[in-house]
Amino acid sequence: MAEENKDVSETKAMPLHIPENTWPVIVILVMLALGALIYYSFGKHEHVSQGQFVGPGKCKTCHEKQYASWKKTRMANSFNMLRPGVKGQEKQMVGLNPDKDYTQDETCLPCHTTGYGLVGGFVSIEKTPDMAGVSCEACHGHGGTYVSSVMSLNEPKFQTSDARKAGLVYPPTENVCRVCHNARSPYVGMDYKFYYDERVKLGTHEHYHLKYEHGR
Ligand code: HEC
Ligand code: HEC
Ligand code: HEC
Ligand code: HEC
Repeated sequence: MAEENKDVSETKAMPLHIPENTWPVIVILVMLALGALIYYSFGKHEHVSQGQFVGPGKCKTCHEKQYASWKKTRMANSFNMLRPGVKGQEKQMVGLNPDKDYTQDETCLPCHTTGYGLVGGFVSIEKTPDMAGVSCEACHGHGGTYVSSVMSLNEPKFQTSDARKAGLVYPPTENVCRVCHNARSPYVGMDYKFYYDERVKLGTHEHYHLKYEHGR
């Protein structure tokens, strides 16, 4: 805030002549800028709202079976791959340093965490432990848009199409996986092929029958 004020007073002190009738406009612009700043800094801490990641703990409250099954997958545990000493031989084979701590390395984090750099997403293992690893929202979209607004216990018969309009990614298609399963991963060569039909059976979570029809 002090910085903003300083800018204004410096502008005033400049020899450049600012027509008197533009001051109200400048004041309004400064207020808008401050408003936006405050709005966005609150957004980072507040959890459930539009466009934000809510974390797997939130999904667990209503989807305990999927959560328990997901928790056992390699993707749930994928953050640990970045720790020093883990998969040392495999790291060496692709020219990575087995003793290096990659847990803060921004080249690895987008694929080994959820929502890295996005609102409510992974920041660091200390600040956002729930967002480590590849969790629900990496495949189903950030819950801040569809949880509660469409998907709720009051309205358990919601239509998939409505949830999708609100941001749910369902069913997650091959393109969702390819955001991470691609040749930018140090573990895959340029000739890498991602076989969706096989992989989707291997590594996501067990699938359970839903109670209601949602129309898809
Ligand atoms: C573009 C996304 C992407 C990036 C960037 C990425 N990874 Fe991965 N990583 C993957 C995927 C996908 C797999 C699983 C590969 C598979 O089995 O198909 C993986 C697997 C691994 C594994 C397990 C290998 C094994 O054989 O079990 C380690 C360790 C690993 N990554 C470390 C890293 C490190 C360290 C970095 C940063 C230097 C990094 N990754 C960057 C996507 C990525
Ligand atoms: C945010 C990044 C990301 C997304 C999105 C993603 N994955 Fe992964 N996946 C990874 C990483 C990283 C690993 C490596 C985990 C490890 O080795 O510990 C992995 C590992 C796997 C594995 C285990 C490796 C194996 O061969 O058993 C399977 C299966 C898999 N992913 C399937 C999928 C499918 C299917 C999708 C889409 C529906 C998907 N993944 C979406 C990052 C991602
Ligand atoms: C790696 C991607 C991936 C992750 C991570 C993931 N899912 Fe899924 N999920 C899928 C796929 C694929 C389907 C099946 C879509 C279909 O039927 O075609 C699915 C289906 C579902 C369904 C429908 C019912 C069922 O069991 O099939 C629910 C509910 C669900 N997921 C919740 C979750 C929750 C909660 C989490 C986190 C704890 C999670 N998912 C994590 C990929 C993922
Ligand atoms: C307040 C409860 C609640 C929370 C929290 C919640 N869900 Fe759901 N979800 C539901 C209900 C209810 C259904 C429909 C269940 C049924 O038909 O049996 C559902 C269905 C789904 C489906 C299947 C959608 C379809 O159209 O078939 C997916 C995928 C899903 N949820 C993912 C998630 C994810 C990911 C999260 C966390 C970001 C989450 N849910 C959080 C209540 C919730």
